Formats: sequence, structure tokens, C-alpha cells
Amino acid sequence: MERIKVNLEKSCREAYEIFIGEDILDRVGLAIKGQNHADRYVIITDSNVNPLYGEMVRKRLRESLLPVDIIEIPAGEASKSLGTVSDVARQLVRLKASRKSLLIALGGGVVGDIAGFIASIYMRSIPYVQIPTTLLAQVDSSVGGKTGVDLPEGKNLVGTFYQPRAVYIELSFLKTLSDKDFANGLAEIIKYGIISDQNLFELLEHESDGIKKRNPSLMESLVGRSCKIKAEIVEMDEKELGLRRILNFGHTLGHALEAESDYSLSHGEAVSIGMVGAAMISHKLDYLDRASCTRIVDLIKRYDLPTKIPAGLDTTRVMGFMAADKKAISGQLHFVLAKRIGVPFVTPEVPSGVVEKVIEELQS
Ligand SMILES: NC(=O)c1ccc[n+]([C@@H]2O[C@H](COP(=O)([O-])OP(=O)(O)OC[C@H]3O[C@@H](n4cnc5c(N)ncnc54)[C@H](O)[C@@H]3O)[C@@H](O)[C@H]2O)c1
Repeated sequence: MERIKVNLEKSCREAYEIFIGEDILDRVGLAIKGQNHADRYVIITDSNVNPLYGEMVRKRLRESLLPVDIIEIPAGEASKSLGTVSDVARQLVRLKASRKSLLIALGGGVVGDIAGFIASIYMRSIPYVQIPTTLLAQVDSSVGGKTGVDLPEGKNLVGTFYQPRAVYIELSFLKTLSDKDFANGLAEIIKYGIISDQNLFELLEHESDGIKKRNPSLMESLVGRSCKIKAEIVEMDEKELGLRRILNFGHTLGHALEAESDYSLSHGEAVSIGMVGAAMISHKLDYLDRASCTRIVDLIKRYDLPTKIPAGLDTTRVMGFMAADKKAISGQLHFVLAKRIGVPFVTPEVPSGVVEKVIEELQS
């Protein structure tokens, strides 16, 4: 089992560990019990994950003599709402959860974001741990403490920065994940290779057959490296004031494509096209050489992720969504570009004509 430490604000209180391995659940009960002296434990999970793993996790925790309840929310992004927050908080009150209770987020990014948000506000904040069950949650959303819910006006518009006490990554959960959700997580791992780790990029290039078959030791290596990269970036910039923005490589265009497709493009698909766009912009502005740009496009293709914008999406509207992106700072659109594989940078200086040209090329 691999252990990665995340140190925040150089304060021990804010440090927590990420445990990664296959069949680690046996030890999770004891670890949770050892680290948190809670009077009550409540698992928050969704309607797909609960039948698969809810009872299994509750049983393991009960073996460590922990009192555990389960609250289930409907699976899917629609649950990431203030309505769900209110429903779950009221169920917590009925379960007599107090400031001494601990929440356990068991699920993908949706469950993790909601459970973390509720933990940050229930009774003015209670502790929580993450047990992520999708590849995206294991390599991305469970680490870093961004929590929140959506509003009808847009995604993740209400939320907090609130760190978990620990993250327990059980790799065997990946066996039941759909191909689409597996690909969503792979897109983020490819992003880590591009922004931070040439060796990870090469591993993805050379071991695609094994990775697509979810080979356990390859998955352990990919998840471990990804968590390390995210943890290092979050340690340096917890509140996304600077460096953390490099994690948005491919996301500026990606989010706009997701919105313009009315979310018929999955996050991973949209980010994949967005990463191709960011690589092409980097090349057009003479930062990234053609060979590296081609390697990025080829790697995304190798994982059966899209590299072209599907027909029917409108360039002007995509540009409009980008301008409205909440990461547009004082009206200026910031792009994450690459100088080389492993060397990203953030710039406000991308002429809109170049972005439009790239979107048009991505449509042909
Ligand atoms: N907080 C952050 O830093 C951060 C980062 C990236 C994304 N996010 C958020 O994460 C969310 C997306 O997360 P996601 O892709 O995990 O989606 P998700 O939580 O909706 O999970 C995808 C689907 O997989 C199912 N599922 C989960 N684990 C499974 C398993 N082991 N086997 C079978 N099915 C399983 C879920 O029930 C769901 O139907 C979005 O809301 C996004 O905004 C947050």
C-alpha cells in the first residue's frame, strides 16, 4: 500500500495522508478509528455505489467496532444541488450526528463534492474522509479539498475549500466502473503527464494495452503518480491563487464544449478535445514544437478519447462560454499552455483570433 502525505499551510493540523492499494479496506476501519475519535460515522454514497460497496464498507468498519449509518443520494450530477445538501443535513440531524461525528464520502466526484461540502458546513463543520470509487475521484476530486454543488446558473458555483482527514483509495473498486467513467479518469491522468511528468506521459504511451485492461499494478502506478502530482500542486497553492491553475490544462475549452454540448460530451471527452486545443494553441504561438503537439494528440487517440469537436457545436457560442467561465479574471481569459511535455504555464495573452482558428480546425 502506497502512502502520500499532503502538507498544507505548513501546519500539521492541515496535513493528511492518501492511502493507495488493492484490498486495503480491511485496514481502513482501523485507520479511521485510530485517527478520528468520532462518536458516530455516516457513509454518504450514491444509488449505484451503495448496492455495490455500501454494505461491504459498513461491514468492514463495524468489524472495527465503529457505529456506522448510510445515507444514499441518487446517482448523477443532478444530485449536486443545494436541495440534496438540505436533505442530507436533515437526515444527519435525524441520525443525531453531532460535531463529534465523521462523514465518509464513498463514491465518485459527485458524492465527494457534496459530502465534503456538507462536512464543511454541518454544525459549522465536522471532519470527513474520502473513499473515492471512480478513477476521476481517485486521481483528482478526492485530493485537494475543493467541495461544492451546482446552481441552475452553472457548475460548482457554491462551495468551500475544506480538506478531508484522509483519503483511502481502494483500487479494486475500478473493476466495476463503466468504460466511459474509466476514460473520464484517464483524461485527467493524461493531463498530469502533460503538465508535470514526462515519465508518466511515456508510461501512458508504452503501456496503453495493459492500462486499458485496468492491469492492477499499472493502475497503482498511475493513481499513485497522479495523486503525488495533485498533492504537490495543492500543497503549494491550496486556494488556486496561482500554480493550481495549471491543473486546468485543457479545461478552459473543455468546460465550454461541455456546456455547449448541453453535457452530452462527458467531462473526460470535453477535456480531451480541450487538451488538443491547448496543445495546438501552444504550437501556433511557437511555444510547443510540432512533434510534441502530435504526441499529445496521438496519446489521447490511443485511449479512444476524442480529438475533434463533434458536428453541431457553434464556435461563437463556445467562445461565449469561455468568456463567461468563472476563471476568466477581470474579463481576461487565462489559458494553460505547454512549452514542452511536463512544462506548463498560464497566460492571459492568447489572441482570440488564434483560439477561434483552433476551434475551427478542431471542427474539420
Ligand atoms: N473537487 C474537485 O476537485 C473536483 C475535480 C474534478 C471533478 N469534480 C467533480 O466530480 C464530478 C464528477 O465525478 P465522477 O466522474 O466520479 O462522476 P460520478 O460521481 O457521477 O460517478 C460516475 C458514475 O459512476 C458510478 N460509480 C461510481 N463508482 C463506481 C464504481 N466503482 N463502479 C461502478 N459505478 C461507479 C456513479 O454512481 C456514477 O453513476 C463532477 O461533479 C465534477 O464537478 C470535482
